[in-house]
Amino acid sequence: MNHFIFKIKLLAASWLLWVTVLPAQTALKDAFQNDFLIGVAVNQSQFFETDKSEAALVKTHFNSISPENDLKWERIHPEPGRFDFSGADRYVAFGETNKMFIIGHTLIWHSQTPSWVFQDTNGRLPKRDEMLARMREHITTVVGRYRGRIMGWDVVNEAVDEDGSLRATPWLKAIGEDYLVKAYQFAHAADPEAELYYNDYGLENPEKRAGAVRLIKKLQAAGIKISAVGLQGHYKLRSNFPSPQEVDEAISDFARLGVKVMITELDVDVLPSERDTLNADVSARARSEDRLNPFPKRLPAGMQQKLAARYAEIFAVFLRHRDNITRVTFWGLTDADSWLNDWPIVGRTSYPLLFDRAGRPKPAFERLIELGKSPRMAKVSAAQPSEISEKF
Ligand code: GLA
Repeated sequence: MNHFIFKIKLLAASWLLWVTVLPAQTALKDAFQNDFLIGVAVNQSQFFETDKSEAALVKTHFNSISPENDLKWERIHPEPGRFDFSGADRYVAFGETNKMFIIGHTLIWHSQTPSWVFQDTNGRLPKRDEMLARMREHITTVVGRYRGRIMGWDVVNEAVDEDGSLRATPWLKAIGEDYLVKAYQFAHAADPEAELYYNDYGLENPEKRAGAVRLIKKLQAAGIKISAVGLQGHYKLRSNFPSPQEVDEAISDFARLGVKVMITELDVDVLPSERDTLNADVSARARSEDRLNPFPKRLPAGMQQKLAARYAEIFAVFLRHRDNITRVTFWGLTDADSWLNDWPIVGRTSYPLLFDRAGRPKPAFERLIELGKSPRMAKVSAAQPSEISEKF
């Protein structure tokens, strides 16, 4: 082959590499490096690095991690007086080695908390003082152990009900409304430098959000410094909930309180909603189960595109709010990891994330990389009212 043809071939090959391979290799965290941190909830096979390729994906694309389950009360404090830090220590070490922003999730929640926490020796709800003592011991021990290493804590998770009232959890019943103030005070005392967050789902719904806004104001009035509110971001493709407008309004309302906003558990559910599967007719039930699990083998190309468009419209809102948003965390790495394979129906095949079951980037990933490389639109500051409609 002469020199000229060789050169042309080389040029063509590098162009092909550029258009096909390189875009997929752009790291998500780099695409948004001037906007916000990009996080992922990790499980043990990733941070113990038993799954080498998934661990590598986490390191390549993310600069923040959240523990999917390993810092929840049931894991870390399974029995009275017994703490188990075996998973959490490895999680924190993985984050430090890879220079990531390490999140603690979560200290006070009504779920994934062992029943002994909410029972006295007679099986009844403990008295206020006893519950406060349990709360203080847990928070002081866990936050204290990772002082200066875990940089931000979801101190209280999901304390607000759908109607905006405080959720009637055992914490509220045993201690009273000030259980929230106490939790934040204990966390602050255990690590005065750590950022403290309030985390919840469905805050795009105005009624629930109004309750969360009241809560944040009360905490602020009690002298608590809430660094940020976490919108969990368990979003849906079906029914377009929440709309970009609703996401925008939620971010604006919290930003106006002087707190940052984080998207802490992002995923987009592509599956149909649960309907009556308890039909007595077996064949009708089987048909209904098929309807509820429509993609047992793969997500069709058309659906991949819809998912990509949904992620892009949500991220467009995040980008406009990049002054108010500090972090966007995905709730899981690959579709195989997602809790949505088993919720609200067990055993379905779900596709809510950016990487497929083999760890390959999906069209939604590519769309976000493109968006990340595109010029930024005007920012929305906390004081400015939102004008999202201009953008769509
Ligand atoms: C909530 C919790 C998370 C996780 C998800 C779904 O949003 O905050 O820790 O359990 O539910 O699994």
